[in-house]
Amino acid sequence: MRIGMLTGGGDCPGLNAVIRAVVRKGVAEHGDEFVGFRDGWKGPLEGLTMTLGVPEVRGILPRGGTILGSSRTNPFAVEGGVETIIARLEELGIDALIAIGGEDTLGVAAKLHERGVRVIGVPKTIDNDLDATDYTFGFDTAVNIATEAIDRLHTTAESHHRALIVEVMGRHAGWIALHSGLAGGANVILIPEVRFSIERVCAYVESRFKSQYAPIIVVAEGALPDEASAPGGINSGEADAFGHARLGGIGDWLAREIEQRTGKEARTMVLGHIQRGGTPSAFDRVLATRFGLHAIDAVHDGESGIMVALSGTDIVRVPLSAAVAKLKTVDAARYAETEVLFG
Ligand code: F6P
Repeated sequence: MRIGMLTGGGDCPGLNAVIRAVVRKGVAEHGDEFVGFRDGWKGPLEGLTMTLGVPEVRGILPRGGTILGSSRTNPFAVEGGVETIIARLEELGIDALIAIGGEDTLGVAAKLHERGVRVIGVPKTIDNDLDATDYTFGFDTAVNIATEAIDRLHTTAESHHRALIVEVMGRHAGWIALHSGLAGGANVILIPEVRFSIERVCAYVESRFKSQYAPIIVVAEGALPDEASAPGGINSGEADAFGHARLGGIGDWLAREIEQRTGKEARTMVLGHIQRGGTPSAFDRVLATRFGLHAIDAVHDGESGIMVALSGTDIVRVPLSAAVAKLKTVDAARYAETEVLFG
């Protein structure tokens, strides 16, 4: 078969491991040919392709990023975009497409499936917010990076009797904040799903200082104070092609408020793209490789409109529509169980 492959959305450690597994198994077991589409949906839209065979995937298992490149191009936001993609796939003789991405990339894949394109999805995102899979690859690596940062910040915060705020990624879902905050022993964890009171945060900060330790506050970029704390709201920015605002600023806002309200020095570290870069953890390499091996099986089983997913320790197939119907966010009970550790 002739199979197209693309990676879309924010990059994520483990993308190359998926690409390698798909190509290695496709070539070894089925004699498949692959066409690499560059830069997400921009590739099939603009005809940007690259050779993708066993030589191209040698040595890429531990490499972060994606050899295919990525973008947040949304073909449904481009006039005639979908028709162009369908025509391009036909012209290149593509029998099936493997799309590796998060909610946006797989949302496009689900709609293309409805238009008759044979497409298989592979879930990726450091945010771990895709539904219908227990975990996405990239999340474990991001949590490890954030946890290491928190570990390091504890010692310097204590030396200087400062409050340190760590702003991590997560627009709508607080999984990275929750897991890295728990693993790193943060004193307060703030997530987008639950509005926070700045007064309560300052009370935690003060009680932590009283016990002779310095507070570490982990905040997801999409976390918001309640209306009483910040009338009018904060954190609105320019939007991408899928309509997501570019976030940032909650960490600085927290530092200012904590300083003013408690009189203690507070500083903010924005971890940003460090969480997405570099080599994947062993867990993510294994998960990404298994996703790739199962994705190529799904293609040869004649599937379309499905996504490979992790259920317990098994890789299963779920409808793409189920994966993109809603985001998997942190529920209130899951957050509440950690609150006893705050302060
Ligand atoms: O979607 C993954 C993600 O890492 C979000 O947590 C974050 O808001 C976003 O990407 C940042 O994307 P960009 O690099 O396009 O600004």
